[in-house]
Amino acid sequence: MNLREYLRNASEHIPAAPHANPRLETEVLIRHALRISREQFFADLERTLTSDEAAAMDALVARRASGEPLAYITGHREFYGLDFVVNNHVLIPRQETELLVDLALDFAKDWAPSELSIADVGTGSGAIAIALAINLPGATAFATEWDDGAIEVARANFRRHDVQGRVDLLQGDLLEPIQGQVDIIVSNPPYIPTDEIEGLAVEVQQEPRQALDGGLDGLDTFRRLIGQAPTKLKPRGLMLVELSPQQMDNAEILAAQAFPLTEVSHADDLLGLARVLVIKCK
Ligand SMILES: C[S@@+](CC[C@H](N)C(=O)[O-])C[C@H]1O[C@@H](n2cnc3c(N)ncnc32)[C@H](O)[C@@H]1O
Repeated sequence: MNLREYLRNASEHIPAAPHANPRLETEVLIRHALRISREQFFADLERTLTSDEAAAMDALVARRASGEPLAYITGHREFYGLDFVVNNHVLIPRQETELLVDLALDFAKDWAPSELSIADVGTGSGAIAIALAINLPGATAFATEWDDGAIEVARANFRRHDVQGRVDLLQGDLLEPIQGQVDIIVSNPPYIPTDEIEGLAVEVQQEPRQALDGGLDGLDTFRRLIGQAPTKLKPRGLMLVELSPQQMDNAEILAAQAFPLTEVSHADDLLGLARVLVIKCK
């Protein structure tokens, strides 16, 4: 069998979820198994496969067919134009989370980066903290996380992007490990209501429970975070929290209680859905 035929057959075993592209996913798995570039892949399409090559590709296709996320199989995911290592200890960074980075960078435009301090709470793979550190060289950055496995992945990504000397990775509960106050708090906390987790796509259910499960209404972690935040955010600071659009009204009420006399609003994602809670101190 040649590579083109393998691609066609194997694509049929890849889950065809909404927005999924089984052919492209199969191509990525083939390139990962054969360790070849995209150019080499197209150049090799008519080449007959060896049995060892077919076996290596079959093993990856079987993992994907059983619902393992593509990013866990390849060990990589792109976020904010940067490549991150991922495994099943961390949430796979999502495109919608890039909005948190955009909003933080927009706020930072009026500051000298050396004056800015930032905290990424529940850093997981470290994607948000690293994207901010790279785009705001000179800023002081902290990333907190309580899970041992996630800490290891974040540390690997800090080294990969050479920010280990610029981002302080702190293990502990939400904002507690941070001494003093920061100018920007960003967080993508777990916010899926517990009883919705079973109904999520098989791939999503393979991501760490502590990265997804936000309790009965999804706001358990947010409630604790917003309780800690007033003593950790500087007077002219900004806090950004990713949540689901259905939670935004309640989250804005909780935020207004924690930060009275402060502007509380939200920002919409590319689909026009309320995605990020915005607390802007004056
Ligand atoms: C939804 S994931 C977000 C990961 C990453 N920031 C991103 O956006 O891809 C939430 C992360 O918060 C961590 N986490 C949950 N509760 C925490 C807590 N109380 N203190 C510190 N980290 C927590 C989880 O382990 C997980 O890595």
